[in-house]
Amino acid sequence: VAEDLAAKLRQTTGFPVEVLKAAGKTYENAIILRTNSNLARLGDEGYMLSVSKRAVMIESPAPAGLFYGVQTFYQLLPPQVEAPGIAEGIRWSIPCVRIEDRPRFRWRGMHLDVGRHFFSKDEVKKYIDILALYKMNVFHWHLTEDQGWRIEIKKYPKLTEIGAWRRETMFDGTPSGGFYTQEDVREVVGYATRHFITIVPEIEMPGHSQAALASYPELSCSGGPFKVGMEWGVIHDVFCAGNEKTFSFLEDVLSEVIDLFPGEFIHVGGDEVPKLRWQNCVKCQERIKTEGLADEKELQSYFIKRVEKFLSSKGKRLVGWDEILEGGIAPNATVMSWRGVSGGIEAAKSGHDVVMTPTTHCYFDYYQGRFDEPRAIGGFLPIEKVYSYEPVPAELTATEAKHILGAQGNVWTEYMDDFSHVEYMLLPRMLALSEVVWSKKELRNFQDFSVRIVPHYERLAAGNINFRLPPPEGLGGKKLIQAPTAISIYPPFPQAEVRYTTDGTEPSRESSLLNPANPVEAAGSVILKARTILPSGRMSRVAKTAISLIDPELNGLEYSYYEGSWPMLPDLTDLTPVKTGRVFDISLEPAASKKSGYALLFKGYIQVDNPGEYKFTITTKDGASLSIGDNEVVRNNGVFALGEVCGKINLAAGKYPIRISYFQKSEDGQLEISCEGPGMEKQALPPQWLFPK
Ligand code: ACM
Ligand code: ZN
Repeated sequence: VAEDLAAKLRQTTGFPVEVLKAAGKTYENAIILRTNSNLARLGDEGYMLSVSKRAVMIESPAPAGLFYGVQTFYQLLPPQVEAPGIAEGIRWSIPCVRIEDRPRFRWRGMHLDVGRHFFSKDEVKKYIDILALYKMNVFHWHLTEDQGWRIEIKKYPKLTEIGAWRRETMFDGTPSGGFYTQEDVREVVGYATRHFITIVPEIEMPGHSQAALASYPELSCSGGPFKVGMEWGVIHDVFCAGNEKTFSFLEDVLSEVIDLFPGEFIHVGGDEVPKLRWQNCVKCQERIKTEGLADEKELQSYFIKRVEKFLSSKGKRLVGWDEILEGGIAPNATVMSWRGVSGGIEAAKSGHDVVMTPTTHCYFDYYQGRFDEPRAIGGFLPIEKVYSYEPVPAELTATEAKHILGAQGNVWTEYMDDFSHVEYMLLPRMLALSEVVWSKKELRNFQDFSVRIVPHYERLAAGNINFRLPPPEGLGGKKLIQAPTAISIYPPFPQAEVRYTTDGTEPSRESSLLNPANPVEAAGSVILKARTILPSGRMSRVAKTAISLIDPELNGLEYSYYEGSWPMLPDLTDLTPVKTGRVFDISLEPAASKKSGYALLFKGYIQVDNPGEYKFTITTKDGASLSIGDNEVVRNNGVFALGEVCGKINLAAGKYPIRISYFQKSEDGQLEISCEGPGMEKQALPPQWLFPK
């Protein structure tokens, strides 16, 4: 701990910090780290930190506590202590304080899925650095998935020769792959140990195993062949539970994993196991019969219990997702409650240890903001909701509550193809989770946290770490106005510097400075863009509103609304509408509450001022088309997963007939039409261009 502290201080301050072993002596002008058994009440992770004019003293009963004392010491220093090199012109001072601190929970976890996208050994180390800065102590390394097997297993080389390579992802259709050699794993484990982080490796079974089955199809029920997963979701092919080879394979794999990871827990997944293949497999059905199992759920329970027995025999504890409760939980298993908290409650009540990681509060693959966020899997988890999380359910008695080891945030990476995006999704939400798992419940206060977090933005920026700097508030989406209108933009925190533009350019240091007391005047159709900028120059993503000045007498399109059921986009020309009217904006609003079995036709004229090539994009699940004049520019005939289709057309300045048709067969309709053209970035079809006549 002392060596790492000295190295970091030398690196950023340039001071010649030395490490001396000096038990029993009194030192001045020093940072003193001392284990002190008189502080046993603080536990191994607790510490006392006192800073006087003469020295800094960090004491703990154990090295872990010294490490956490050092992390707090960094937080008292200027943010540049996180810089990768010497930070010039900094006055390296810290306040005189006395802090006594200890964590509330022993499992302060963060997970990373390296299966959907692979992240390098060095990126994983950076993840560990970030966790350690905020005193997280468990890194759940999700090493195997349908879309990739990431850990070298000497006995089964095809796992990484075949299983580590994915021909395309749903994110961008490009190939993706990679794996860690056992050498790499040892290096990462050593690195984590030095940061007082325990790695919990996850080897998924019986489901999420398509990459393994692509490598060794004989371990499936059908025999394959299989490809490493390209699409993301719940995949039917899983390890065959009737085949002895499956268990000898998994025991061999786990034996190598056990040799690599010194921590007590091994995660075996267990989530999202469809039972279809087992239902149709002779071997699986035979197993059900010979073991006297009631059904396939009990077969899953048999599977996990058998693996748990193996792990126990090797001195390891099994942890699995809450589906391992199905059909009866294995005797010593620990449950990770992700589908809400009920699995965790059930497990704790029956005497099992639990890690809480409900999607509602702990899934960091969900969106952090309502507008203008990078594409994510879905869901909405703003930082205040993470902060509000209480890991101990009210339903538990004090004794049962002792089984709640802590909580964990999960980062599933189907929609994160580079590590800086992982950092963006992780931060600053992990800071909220870090307080949830460290601080006493009664000391948590979001108001206070939202002030205290602000200096951490510069700290993360100094460390070259990406994060979501909160953008200005009040913007997002589209807005129709009928006269010049004042638009209020709110700084995301007091004293935040907010810069904005109305000419379509990206706001920068040179753009207009927002005066929070004065709204911004939108005199016409403009795209109002704003961003937060830190003193160091780090900027937030752009928040924006497309403002359209329209005249309700002159603008809009005529719509016709039809009901019926069609297999594909119908020709609406000769059908009789249920109702007609005028809209100023293309949306499904005329269908009101109808969820499926309808169609819409929008008709009128589009006024184009700048000649050139225009590209129109339709985002729908079901069919839609857009025509300008006699040209059908875009058509999406059928019923697909949500997707984009686009088409291009050259237009001279002038007014053209426009016609947009849409039909809704399945539920969850969506219709977005955007356009980009000369001097114009991609945006929703501008309402000020649309006319009924
Ligand atoms: C999970 O999110 N399938 C554990
Ligand atoms: Zn089978």
